[in-house]
Amino acid sequence: KIQLELKNIALRPGDKLKLKGEILHDAEKFRIDLGVNSEDLALHFNPRFEDDEDGAVLVYNSKTAGYWGSEGREMPNPLQRGSDVKIFLMLSGDGFEVELPDGQKLSFPNNSNMDVITYVQVAGDFKLNSFKIY
Ligand code: GAL
Repeated sequence: KIQLELKNIALRPGDKLKLKGEILHDAEKFRIDLGVNSEDLALHFNPRFEDDEDGAVLVYNSKTAGYWGSEGREMPNPLQRGSDVKIFLMLSGDGFEVELPDGQKLSFPNNSNMDVITYVQVAGDFKLNSFKIY
C-alpha cells in the first residue's frame, strides 16, 4: 500500500509539497511521513477513519530511532472518505504547516528538529494522483 517513497531528497524550510489524490471509499487510514528514513520521522500525518478509540481522527506524531513520540490527535478528522483532496504541506523550519481541502490550516511542531527532510513516504488507503515539490 505504499503509494510513494522518496529517499535522498532535500527539503528545506520554505519548501512546499502538494499532494492530490483520492481517499478511498472504504479507507481505514493513510499516512504522509516526512523525515530522514522510516525510523526517524519529523512528521507522521495519519488520518484515520476507524480508530478504535476515536473513530475519525487525525493522528500525528514523530518517530526517533524507531520509537514513536507523544501522539497528537485532532478531532474530528477534517478529511472525508471517498473524497478528492489536495493537501499542501509547508516546511517552516520549526514545524510544518498543512492546508486541507476545506481551507483548514493546521500546524505541527518539528520536535526532532530535523533541518532537512530527506525521506517522504505516502501510504495507506489513498490513491495518489499527483505529487509536487516547489
Ligand atoms: C500507532 C500506530 C502507528 C502510528 C502511531 C502514531 O498506534 O501503530 O502506525 O500511527 O500510532 O502515534
